[in-house]
Amino acid sequence: MTNAEEPDIVLIYARAANGVIGHEGDLPWRLPADLRRFKALTMGPEGRGRPMIMGRKTFESLPGLLPGRRHIVLTRREDWDSKGAEVVTSLAEALALAKTDSADEIPVVGGAEIYDIFRPLAHRIEVTEIHRDYPGDTFMKPLGPEWIEARREDHEAEDERPAFSFVTYTRAD
Ligand SMILES: NC(=O)c1ccc[n+]([C@@H]2O[C@H](COP(=O)([O-])OP(=O)(O)OC[C@H]3O[C@@H](n4cnc5c(N)ncnc54)[C@H](OP(=O)(O)O)[C@@H]3O)[C@@H](O)[C@H]2O)c1
Repeated sequence: MTNAEEPDIVLIYARAANGVIGHEGDLPWRLPADLRRFKALTMGPEGRGRPMIMGRKTFESLPGLLPGRRHIVLTRREDWDSKGAEVVTSLAEALALAKTDSADEIPVVGGAEIYDIFRPLAHRIEVTEIHRDYPGDTFMKPLGPEWIEARREDHEAEDERPAFSFVTYTRAD
C-alpha cells in the first residue's frame, strides 16, 4: 500500500500488440502463465484473496466464481443478480464495498469499460503484453506518458505460444 489508510487500486489485464483484450465475450488466447499471474495478483501473497472489481460482461465471461476472491460486479441493470456476485451500480459503490475487508490492494479485472473508468484512480497497472496481433472486438489504448514502466519480465515465444512480457506500470508523478 502506498498510503497506510487506503488500499492500492491495481488494473490487471492482458493486451495483444494490436490492442485487443477480448473477442466475443472471451479472451482471444490461451496463456496459462498469464492465468497463473492473474491468480497470484488477485489472491495476494498470503493467499487471502483480494476483492476483485469487474464489469457485468467480464463476470459473465468467467467459467464460474473464482475461488477465494470476492466478485464485485458493476451493472446498470436493476434486475441483474448472479449468485456469488456482489452487485453495484457505480464506481463509488464498488470501491466502498471493496474496502470493507481491509485488503492491501483492490484488483480491477476488466473489461475495457471498467478499466476506462478506474484508470484515473489507479495506483498501478499490471499488463501482460502479448507480442502478437489477435482478432478481437474489445480494445485497450496504449498507456499515456503519465505511466512509467517500473518492472518487466520477458518470455520468449515457444512452439504455438506467443512471446509475452509481464510489465508493471506506476504513475510518473
Ligand atoms: N484481456 C484481459 O485481460 C481481459 C480482462 C477482462 C475482460 N476481458 C474481455 O473484455 C471483454 C469484456 O469487456 P467490455 O468492455 O465489453 O465489458 P465489461 O467492462 O466487462 O462490462 C461492461 C458492463 O459493465 C457495466 N458498466 C460499465 N460502466 C458502468 C458504470 N459506470 N456503472 C455501472 N455499470 C457499468 C455495464 O453492465 P450492464 O450492461 O449490465 O449495465 C456494461 O455493459 C470480454 O471479451 C472479456 O473476455 C479481457
